[in-house]
Amino acid sequence: MALIQWSEKLSVGVIEMDRQHQKLVSLVNRLYDAMASGQGGDIKKDILAELVMYTKVHFAAEERLMSQHGYPQLAAHKALHDQLTAKAVELNTKVQRGQMVPTVSLSSFLKDWLTQHICQQDKQYGRFIAAPVG
Ligand SMILES: [Fe+2]
Ligand SMILES: [Fe+2]
Repeated sequence: MALIQWSEKLSVGVIEMDRQHQKLVSLVNRLYDAMASGQGGDIKKDILAELVMYTKVHFAAEERLMSQHGYPQLAAHKALHDQLTAKAVELNTKVQRGQMVPTVSLSSFLKDWLTQHICQQDKQYGRFIAAPVG
């Protein structure tokens, strides 16, 4: 069973960003499946490295979108992205070095990291962009 089920509850109302979030969800799910089935460390390392890379791509795309729409909370949102990136990079570094990271803490961290940010912060820019001007 997938760690995170995509549903409309995770939609921010911007098609391209939903598509990118779905890709992040699928990477987190693949990582979780690889860990749960005890697959080799290399698969885990590859997926996590891809997740970190795609996270940076996604955050940059979101920041561009918010900037284009003159979103007033851009600076605060970007600061949160920087924190999330730093956490993911730290985790990735540990895993790439072969340090032990318990599966439970890794999967719950990634789940919260992704879904909480989407529900609490990303939905705010979604509502801002969708709101009628004037
Ligand atoms: Fe996002
Ligand atoms: Fe975001």
